[in-house]
Amino acid sequence: MTVTSGPAGSSPHGILAPSAPGSPNDSSESVVRLEGVSKTYPSEPPVDALKDVSFTVHEGELVGIVGPSGSGKTTLLHLMGTLDRPTKGTVWLTGLEVGKLSDAELSALRAGRIGFIFQQFFLAEHQSVLDNVADGLLYTAVPLSERRDAAARALESVGLGAKLSSLPTKLSGGQRQRVAIARALVGSPAVVLADEPTGNLDQATGASILELFHELNEAGATIVVITHDRAVAAWMGRIIQVLDGRVVSDGPAGEWKRATGA
Ligand SMILES: Nc1ncnc2c1ncn2[C@@H]1O[C@H](COP(=O)(O)OP(=O)(O)OP(=O)(O)O)[C@@H](O)[C@H]1O
Ligand SMILES: [Mg+2]
Repeated sequence: MTVTSGPAGSSPHGILAPSAPGSPNDSSESVVRLEGVSKTYPSEPPVDALKDVSFTVHEGELVGIVGPSGSGKTTLLHLMGTLDRPTKGTVWLTGLEVGKLSDAELSALRAGRIGFIFQQFFLAEHQSVLDNVADGLLYTAVPLSERRDAAARALESVGLGAKLSSLPTKLSGGQRQRVAIARALVGSPAVVLADEPTGNLDQATGASILELFHELNEAGATIVVITHDRAVAAWMGRIIQVLDGRVVSDGPAGEWKRATGA
């Protein structure tokens, strides 16, 4: 495996800098930090999707966020990934307080430091596998030829070195998810956020994807996997359990497995 996560606080864009060392909000050793985060959707009636959530993800961790349907997992991923803002509380990403950033800075933060993986893969069907992955660097200053070289390396690292010119429609579900993983990793993000990455895959294919996450993590990537599938826990180092919008347990996966009989 050659794919590693970038150092927390590095910026390929130059417009972002971590908060000053020693400042009260300094969390530069953390990749993602949430403090007292709540999210209420202003629907009718309003939905309290997250209630006073606090935790920190450090560089090099492989974290599973588990909980039943509707417990707030995707909402949590959106807040961690700066796709949405909390109603209350504070989110830091690589030491940067998300609430203090402009829209341009937030876009740069997402492009340079976060890799997203979704259940539905979201690949461009008319583009080759190589260009799908190269697009992971589209909003960076990297020239096309270098983007393609980096994409080829990322695809090698997920076992798809022989499929560079294939169209996604010619691939199996597991192979498509590997393309999405390569796209998420190609920019060496500080953290990869995956929402139900095995949700559309059969059990054996899902297990191979989780094994890949494990290998990428061993190679240095920081990964957060959101799932309602209890079997996923077997591959994680740490499990954060969410129930009805609250974190009800947070610790080593072994403890969670003993406590829940998973
Ligand atoms: N845009 C929205 N507007 C109003 N309510 C929402 C919105 N998005 C989510 N919710 C509600 O917030 C709660 C948490 O939803 P969320 O999607 O975070 O759950 P989840 O744990 O990801 O569930 P699943 O496992 O089914 O994906 C649910 O009650 C949901 O109905
Ligand atoms: Mg969800």
